[in-house]
Amino acid sequence: MLLSMLFFRIMKKIAVLSGAGISAESGIATFRGSGGLWDSYPVEQVATPEGFRANPSLVLEFYNKRRKELACAEPNEAHKLVAELEKDFDVVVITQNVDDLHERAGSTNIIHLHGELMKVCSSVQPQNCMYVCKLPSYDSNIAIGDLAGDGSQLRPFIVWFGEAVPLIEDAISALRDIDVFIIIGTSLNVYPAAGLVNYIPHGTPVYLIDPNDVPVHNLSNLQVLKMGASEGMQKLSNELLKME
Ligand code: APR
Repeated sequence: MLLSMLFFRIMKKIAVLSGAGISAESGIATFRGSGGLWDSYPVEQVATPEGFRANPSLVLEFYNKRRKELACAEPNEAHKLVAELEKDFDVVVITQNVDDLHERAGSTNIIHLHGELMKVCSSVQPQNCMYVCKLPSYDSNIAIGDLAGDGSQLRPFIVWFGEAVPLIEDAISALRDIDVFIIIGTSLNVYPAAGLVNYIPHGTPVYLIDPNDVPVHNLSNLQVLKMGASEGMQKLSNELLKME
């Protein structure tokens, strides 16, 4: 009898931390900077529990509108190249984005730190997964009087300012044994997501793709690609394949 051996290729592990900048090239506005969403909508009115209590219709309308915008958006080259990394690497995408463009590009292992636009939940127990539902379509509007399974008003499944970020522990764990860390399109202004850079194992190569300056300190092995997400990912994908 022939003794056969299976050889498994151990894939290197890549973590990608993405922010609004990766979806900017799909036509979705970023939050900060000129023309950013928070210029037109006061953040405390539309993205805090207090804002929701004060004027729930305004908040529901804000997210109904975001969903309609998402219907018209398509994953761009950067989302697609991130998804393609899965052919050669073990990839986890940690995103602050609430859109579904990473999924639609084909990424399969995604941690949505700040929630998901296409889901709704209970306004009394927002993190209780029994009451989290996926909406059937991008034009599903949530209105006052639409109820979650626990009888409370439905709200968007979005982590608002001042709320806990339950998936941050999963994100920290995912960084434990990575070989490469990629940061794309985030101003690193918002914690705890911005603090993830402190959990990158010492010496790990870190690539930061952003056309603007982003304040990152204490990273011993950082390379900055000062350019848009798609151009940066094209350059980086070729680099990464050499180290596979
Ligand atoms: N390619 C890559 N990066 C880009 C591009 C582009 N084409 N265009 C803009 N950027 C960069 C900006 O330079 C900026 O650094 O994207 C970043 C966007 O920053 P923010 O608007 O602050 O978005 P983000 O960091 O994702 O915000 C974090 O804050 O408002 C909350 O919950 C919201 O998840 C969001 C969090």
